[in-house]
Amino acid sequence: MTAIDVENVLSQLTLDEKAALATGTGFWSTTPVERLGVPAITMSDGPHGVRRQPEGDHLGIGGSYPATCFPPATALGSSWDPELVAKVGEALGKEARALDVQVLLGPGINIKRSPLCGRNFEYLSEDPRVAGELGAALIEGVQSQGVGTSLKHFAANNQETDRLRVSADVDERTLREIYLPGFERAVKQAKPDTVMCSYNRINGVYASENHWLLTEVLRDEWGFDGLVVSDWGAVNDRAAGVAAGLDLEMPGSGEVGPATVVAAVNDGSLPIEALDAAVRNVLRLVAAHADDVLGGTPEVPAELAEANHALAREVAARCAVLLKNDGDILPIDPAASIAVIGEFARTPRYQGAGSSQIVPTHLDSALDELQRLSTGSVTFAAGYAVADGDGGGALRAEAVEAARRADVAVVFLGLPASAESEGYDRTHIDLPAKQIAVLNAVADANENVVVVLSNGSAVRVSDWDARARGILEGWLLGQAGGGAIADLLFGLANPSGRLAETIPVRLEDTSSYLSFPGAFGHVEYTEGVFVGYRWFDARGLPVSYPFGHGLSYTSFAYSNLRTSVRGADEQLEIDVTVTVANTGARDGREVAQVYVAAPSAQVQRPEHELRGFAPVELAAGESREVTFTLGYRDLAYFHPRLKRWFVESGTVGIHVGRSSRDLPLSAEVDVQVAQPVAPLDQDSTIGDWMAHPRGAQVLATVMQQAAGGSEMVGMMSDPGALEMVKSMPLSRIGRFPGIALPDGALDALLAQANG
Ligand code: BGC
Repeated sequence: MTAIDVENVLSQLTLDEKAALATGTGFWSTTPVERLGVPAITMSDGPHGVRRQPEGDHLGIGGSYPATCFPPATALGSSWDPELVAKVGEALGKEARALDVQVLLGPGINIKRSPLCGRNFEYLSEDPRVAGELGAALIEGVQSQGVGTSLKHFAANNQETDRLRVSADVDERTLREIYLPGFERAVKQAKPDTVMCSYNRINGVYASENHWLLTEVLRDEWGFDGLVVSDWGAVNDRAAGVAAGLDLEMPGSGEVGPATVVAAVNDGSLPIEALDAAVRNVLRLVAAHADDVLGGTPEVPAELAEANHALAREVAARCAVLLKNDGDILPIDPAASIAVIGEFARTPRYQGAGSSQIVPTHLDSALDELQRLSTGSVTFAAGYAVADGDGGGALRAEAVEAARRADVAVVFLGLPASAESEGYDRTHIDLPAKQIAVLNAVADANENVVVVLSNGSAVRVSDWDARARGILEGWLLGQAGGGAIADLLFGLANPSGRLAETIPVRLEDTSSYLSFPGAFGHVEYTEGVFVGYRWFDARGLPVSYPFGHGLSYTSFAYSNLRTSVRGADEQLEIDVTVTVANTGARDGREVAQVYVAAPSAQVQRPEHELRGFAPVELAAGESREVTFTLGYRDLAYFHPRLKRWFVESGTVGIHVGRSSRDLPLSAEVDVQVAQPVAPLDQDSTIGDWMAHPRGAQVLATVMQQAAGGSEMVGMMSDPGALEMVKSMPLSRIGRFPGIALPDGALDALLAQANG
């Protein structure tokens, strides 16, 4: 194929062709321009497998070509391991090529604002650092194979309720500190070919027509130079979208989108330059992938499918989180007699519902794999029926009987597929009562109970936790999850997953409990930056299992924390070095975590925030130094008035350890940085004027010139009274007897002060 000369093609396109290129064709393709040699390229979901559908199909009707179903994001997020996630990305890239897909629609990195979000299984974490680093790794992996990605859903798409209309009402500081930094990191580090704008509004403006978001932040600030695509059906006003920086409408809207664009260009409301910019981005994307288009029947070759199934098993074993292991009940001796209880052991729940649903190439069940690996005996009892109806006493009695005769009972519990899906949210976080009833009955019969969970987002464990000696949080582990669970239960793999979302004691304790999912078209993010552990830790609330938590079959110790500071102001860097040791008898993987407690600030800040993490693979007895480098941004908050990242001088606390609630080592670093000064305005108080370097002098002059007997001047020289006066705006005091600033005088003073 000959290369596409983007500028040359652009110069030859008619207005109609340009408008047509700015929308897709059908569900999954860009629009070709045959006379100029511009082919169509194909996009497919994503994100944890390639969901290549025959054209004309969507949302599961008729399915898709088989592909490896890797662990969905909820599990991948728990790996805390960018290298592992990049490997998954590479494998996805290979399958995408085989399935003739040029752009994979993922990763999704929205923040898990509430455990109720029905789509949390497609998202990585409640923390932007984890979401951003792992999202970037997935992009790098996929794109290393010459396949594009689509970082989604940009932005503040944190619920499914009313997702196509709702306005996420979020202050800028919260957006900048919580909801945008994951995107920022992924864009800057991994340069995804495309970014997908979300369905929702942000502070009243649709993401698909949000110039601030799509152009000022994404392109001008972060340097994104790829293509912005709409989420499927996110376009409201196509011409407004083009003007805002939305390059490509998907799916194709036939004549509808193009007609609006042509009319807007013709009536002068849409500058042709804006349309050219969009079309240029479409052409650049097509040009980059035109040579990869295969044609023919898409298929993952058997050999690749086999290799990726094995990889999916290895990855799944790295994602499950060992929450609890009292008395080292795990791993189970393969020679033991085991009662495997619960329908999910036989019929795995391994992915979520909606546009990410993959038709897997294989499907392992934990029951089969446990039977294969066991050298003792494995009996099975379904215990409950996953679907409606309680399954009755008979299933429960069978489970109790099996448990009574076994050394250990492994009980599989989880959410039915209907509980969580794209398109709607959960209303509670409880497991089905009939499943808990089975657990209770089994635990009455056998004290050696291990629970294995299958769920896309946190479930309440506090009402049954005491009945199990071991709990393995399996999330949704993909098509090879059954094998991975067997590997972990028998100790062929050592658990190393860590919670990327807090498991609360109760839904009522979560930060968005009173403001999720909003009403009348608005959801107010009232908790601000206090999302996930930032909330629980600031409030000192008990949690069932904290963010970052995860056990291993070995043990780890931290020692010798050192810090050293380099550079100054915005170039400031702090190296944090710590020694991590495997103090147990098995090889294992620890995830070292560093949290920063910033100096006390004018705004409320979290107790501490995750600013780095590192998986460390250690043989039994081995130890290793790990170094994290913190930069200015890691200490900063987003100053809502200065509209920039801002560090206040003071003492920075640095805490290192294994979860947000288990940070055995701490250090303090004194940080002195230049303090940018907020400009004074009409509303600035006497206190603001006094704190402002030039403003203080201007104020002093005003006071000197005021009538000597002014009561105000007297108050200002009395330290006690001054405290009261400080909160009063100069504009008000300026009207007081003795001072009486004439009209316009304040403007002149402001000009002098602000310079
Ligand atoms: C989802 C996207 C997905 C798209 C295409 C939308 O409903 O929100 O995540 O990529 O459909 O299937």
